[in-house]
Formats: sequence, structure tokens, C-alpha cells
Amino acid sequence: MKGLILSGGKGTRLRPFTYTGAKQLVPVANKPVLFYAIEDLVEAGIQEIGIVVGDTGVQVREAVGDGTRFGGRVTYIEQDAPRGIAHGIKIAQDYIGGESFVLFLGDNFIRDGIAAQVAAFRAGDINAQIILYQMTDPSSMGVAVLDGANRVVRVVEKPKQFVSPYAVIGIYMFDQHVFEAVNAIRPSPRGELEITDTIQYLIDHGHSVRAHLLDGWWIDTGKMADILEANRLVLDVLNPRNEGDVDGASRMEGRVVLQKGAVVVNSTIRGPAIIGENTRIENAFVGPYTSIYHDCLIRNCEIEHSVVLENSKILDTPARIADSLIGRNVEVTRTGGQTKTLKMMIGDHSQVGIL
Ligand code: DAU
Repeated sequence: MKGLILSGGKGTRLRPFTYTGAKQLVPVANKPVLFYAIEDLVEAGIQEIGIVVGDTGVQVREAVGDGTRFGGRVTYIEQDAPRGIAHGIKIAQDYIGGESFVLFLGDNFIRDGIAAQVAAFRAGDINAQIILYQMTDPSSMGVAVLDGANRVVRVVEKPKQFVSPYAVIGIYMFDQHVFEAVNAIRPSPRGELEITDTIQYLIDHGHSVRAHLLDGWWIDTGKMADILEANRLVLDVLNPRNEGDVDGASRMEGRVVLQKGAVVVNSTIRGPAIIGENTRIENAFVGPYTSIYHDCLIRNCEIEHSVVLENSKILDTPARIADSLIGRNVEVTRTGGQTKTLKMMIGDHSQVGIL
């Protein structure tokens, strides 16, 4: 079996956060979301992995490389424009050859990996397997309608009206029949070759599509709240580690990871939290569920339940920062004034001055 990860597209929903960066490279607990997908595939016994890339392909290649460090072999497949998930499958036909494969959308995050689902697919004599996640409002997802015997009868992309509570998550398993489907379907009204139409085609043409109901956590990290949630999930199972440097006036409470070259001076870090490589925390409080990425400076401020990307500076802020996602190369500094909680979504290369 091979793996196919889709890491192209445009992260419009996370803009301006990913205006300059691939949304699949946004870190969760200081590791790009995309890396979890690669690790999940390798853990499930899949080493040959194709990654579909678009405009942000250079960044993705630079971050992932040839896959050796994940124990896999990565091949890049260029997509000229985001023409749909099924289009991503179509252009990967030569790469996949006659094999079965796992399609993994690069912004999907599943806490417990995919080894069990892959084993079930390998063992069963079926053409496709999808994974369902029960939600109260799945209207921003592909949704599966089941019959009385729990068979998938219909799959609808982002239904305007409620048809079923079962979202189809972005991890699918197919045999070669899927190419018949992606070569037959036509673009949807939004101009994309849809994965839902692909699955519907398989069902309508008598191919077996099995649904597996997920009981663990799954997140589509396309929105800010989802990034914070994924971050919480991973930090919750973090093993404490100190590869940095903490001075005598600082306190480490609970599960804290200090990555290589991190420096903590006269500060409290209350875990679960992770501090990235060469990041400096000085006269600061870093509270639970915070991930500060590499090469940051956090000085004279308090921050909790937040994600900060690389090379950003947060200095002298008068209020505790909470529930925030702060981009790359951002500078947050004090300009004087009263104490209030700050809640922000700040894009890459932004500069914010606070009253
Ligand atoms: O997350 C699960 C959902 O993913 C499914 O329930 C939906 O049926 C499916 O259509 C998809 O919906 P999204 O609206 O979330 O898809 P999005 O455009 O965000 O693309 C998902 C990933 O695939 C993302 O990492 C970008 C990548 N992609 C997307 C398109 C359309 C590509 O690489 N090429 C593309 O042409």
C-alpha cells in the first residue's frame, strides 16, 4: 500500500495566518500538522508516500525533505491549481500504480493514528474505506448518510440542510477502482473535483465502500479554534523533557518540554507546555496549553492557552494573552495603558502595538 497526502490548496479559512505559509505546516505542539500525517502512515506500515503540493510546495519540500527522517520515502507531485481533492488523486495515478493507498488530507489530525483502520482495510475484501466522525453540526464537511444496516448510501459535500451527523474525515482508503471514479466525475458547482462525488460514484457503480466509525479524536485544523484544540490534545500526552537551560529563579510546573537551546530566566512555565529551540522566556509566565515555537522571545509578559509560531517576540504586554494564535515573525509590544485580556489572530510578519 502507498500513502498520498494532499498538501496543496489555499488556506483561505486560516488567513491571514497562512497567507504566506502552508496551512499544513502550522505547528501543533511544535510539530507541523503534516508531520503527524506522515508519521501516522509510517506507523501503519506505509513507507512510500506521495505528497501533492501547490503554491507552497517549496516550503513543504524544505520542511519534509525526502522522508528519510520519518522512516519513509517521499515523492512530490505538483498540482497546478487547487482543482479538488479528487483531482489530487487523478494526478497521482502514475505514482500509485496498481496499488491500494491511503489518502490523507494534510490538515487532518487524528489523535490515535490509523494503524487499526489500515489493518482492517488490508484484511477486508473491499474497494474503499471511509472514516466517520459523529458531530452535532457537520455542515462544513463531507457527510455520509447510512441505511438501517449501517451501509453508506449517500455522501454529500457540505450539505446546507442537516442530512446526517456523520462527517467523513479526510483519511480514506482506496483500491485502483477509485481512478475509474476520478476520471469519470465532473467538477462541482464550486469548480472542484470532489472527493464526495468520487465516493458516491463508487457506491453507485456497485463497488464496496465500508464506513468505520471513529471513537477517538479527529480534528480538521483548518480553523483557529481547531489548532488550539489539537494543540491541547497533544500537550495532554506530552512527556516532560529538558534540553534547554533554566535558571535558579525559574519554576517548571507540571509537564513541560524545553527543546534544544531554549532558555528560561526568572519565569514560571506551568505545563502542559512546550518551548521551542533557541526560544528565550524571560520574566514571564507561560501557562497551560501553550506552545511557543523556535527562535521566539517572550519577555515581561503572561501567556496561556496559545500557539506562537517561529521567530516572534512578545514583550512587556500589560495583560495576559490567552486563546491566541500568533504567526511567524510577529512582534507584540507595549505602548502603555490599561490591563485587559487580549484575544488575537495575527498574521505572519505582522506587528502589533498594544495600548
Ligand atoms: O477535513 C475533511 C473534509 O475535507 C471532508 O469532510 C470533505 O468532504 C472534503 O471536501 C474536505 O473538505 P475541506 O473543505 O476541508 O477541504 P480543503 O479545501 O480544506 O482541502 C483539504 C486538504 O487538501 C488541504 O490540506 C488542502 C488540500 N488540497 C485541497 C484541494 C481542494 C489540495 O492539496 N489540493 C486541492 O485541490
